[in-house]
Order: sequence, then C-alpha cells, then structure tokens
Amino acid sequence: MLSFPAHLVAEYLPRLSSRASGDVALDPFCGTGTTLVEAKRLGFSAYGVEALPVPVLAARVKTDWDLSPDALEGVANEVLERVEEDRESAGLPGALPLFHQGKSSVPNWTPPQQILDLIPRGMISPLPLRRVLILRDHIESVRDPGVRSALQIALAAALVEDIGNVAFGPEVYTTRAKEDVLVCDVVRRKVRRMVQDLRSVAGAIHPRTTVLQGDSRDLALMPEKSGDIVITSPPYPNEKDYTRTTSATARSPTFCPRPRATSSRRRVTTTSSTSACWPLVRKWSRGRRDWRPPCAHRA
Ligand SMILES: C[S@@+](CC[C@H](N)C(=O)[O-])C[C@H]1O[C@@H](n2cnc3c(N)ncnc32)[C@H](O)[C@@H]1O
Repeated sequence: MLSFPAHLVAEYLPRLSSRASGDVALDPFCGTGTTLVEAKRLGFSAYGVEALPVPVLAARVKTDWDLSPDALEGVANEVLERVEEDRESAGLPGALPLFHQGKSSVPNWTPPQQILDLIPRGMISPLPLRRVLILRDHIESVRDPGVRSALQIALAAALVEDIGNVAFGPEVYTTRAKEDVLVCDVVRRKVRRMVQDLRSVAGAIHPRTTVLQGDSRDLALMPEKSGDIVITSPPYPNEKDYTRTTSATARSPTFCPRPRATSSRRRVTTTSSTSACWPLVRKWSRGRRDWRPPCAHRA
C-alpha cells in the first residue's frame, strides 16, 4: 500500500547523519511507514505524520517491534479457531470446490446495507465478504490493542492482495471476480510472516518511533525535536486523491468508516502540486537557506 523504495532510505539516512548527535529522522508524509521502518532498522529515532487513519495504523503496526510474537501467534490461533466454528454454523464451505460451481451465494445471508453502501460494486464477492465479516468481528473483540491492530492490518493486507477483486496499476481497479477465498488461510499466512519478523527483532532495544495522525502543514503538531533529517515521498504532483487510492483498504469492511469521515479527510490531504510541500519542508528544517528539494535533506 503506497510504499516507496526502502533502499533509498537505507542509502540516504546514514549519508545524511552526523551520527554523533543521535539524529532524529522525520517523514512528514509517512504513509504506511517505509521511512520509519528503515530508520528504526538503522538505529534512528523517528517521527512520522500521516493524514489518513489506515496508513497511520499500518505504520504503527510496522514499527511496533515490542509486540510479543507469542501473544500475536496465540491470539491469532484462538481467533481463527473461533472463526472456523462460526463458519461451520453459518453453513459456509470449509474448502474451495475443485471445479467452478456457478455464481457464489451465501445461505440465508444478505450483506448489511451499511457494507453495500461502503464497498464499490464488485470489489469483493459475497462468499469471501461473509468470511471477512465473521473474522473482522472476532478481531474487533481482541482485548490487547497491539495484537488487535496487527490482526486488522493482516486482514487489510489480505483483502487487497488476496481476497478482494482488486489490483493496482497505478490506481485501484476491479479484476475478475474470485468466487471464493479461504480467508482464514490467507490471513494465517500473513500473521505467520508478522510473527517471524517480530521474532527476528525480539529481545533487542529499539529506537523510538512516533506516528502522528494529522495534517503535516500544522506545525503545532510537532514536538520540539522532531527531525534532524527529513526523508519523504510527498503527495504526487498529479492531483492524486489519497482518500480514493487508499479506499481499497480504507473503505474495506475491516474498518468501516463513515462517508462523511472520508470527505473531511479529503480536505486535509494534500492533493495538488508537490511544490506546495517545499516551503513546509523548509520550515521543518528550521529555515536553512541552502535547502534544495531532493527527496532527502539534512536539516
Ligand atoms: C507518496 S505517499 C507516501 C508513501 C510513503 N512513503 C510510504 O512508504 O507509504 C504521500 C502520503 O502523504 C499523505 N498526505 C497527503 N497530504 C497530507 C497532509 N496534508 N498531511 C499528512 N499527510 C498527508 C497521503 O495520505 C499519503 O499517504
């Protein structure tokens, strides 16, 4: 979702760092957190600002390296077990048919109107949707907020990559309908990868990462020492509407936002010329005069 090349950050950060001073990295348009993850990996504290709630959640999950892999694995197994029980009682198949059996339908079930209003037509087929909603409800009842967020992001990623009838190129578009998808299997695989990643960093002390949700033009949002190095991939100069391009996940049944919330977010996101961001970046970099607009800058 909206990622940009991690290797760029890995290359620029050490080059721009003075190292001695405990530099803090800042990405004022952090999206799903590529800069923040690389900064953390390389030992830098970092701040990120992002206007939209779903990328914010993704960035927070991706930089929460203190989450216990055992807790995530244990809760995920319990949740998926309960979903299997509900799946059986709802009369949904436990395996995909070997041969295509015509249009999928769900016994005695019509999607709630709220969901139909939310999802663009054809974005997800009825059977996978029913499975997703069962799983979503169980995830919502998970008590531990860190585990709950991680499971929500696993489901969101599975929705756009495996479950929904969508692809990116460069905007989101609808693909051939998948009649059915074993949602639990797909999500289990995503969680397994998350658990592996968490195990690979467990036990170490990690630099602090803070992800703020808001309009990065609002400088009052930022704490005093929020950045020595700015690395960002600002909104594209082509009137890209981020509330639309992230809609595959933001408007997915995992999150269920209200339509009014989307339009107010649209006012916050910068959709016009990238050059509008440069004065802002200059301000963050405490007014340095020799500043030029590359993609990375040492304040
Ligand atoms: C090119 S994307 C950044 C992608 C990011 N580098 C990543 O790896 O995910 C630009 C991001 O800026 C966010 N954005 C646009 N206007 C914003 C604003 N005024 N304040 C904060 N974030 C904003 C968009 O929602 C989008 O996620």
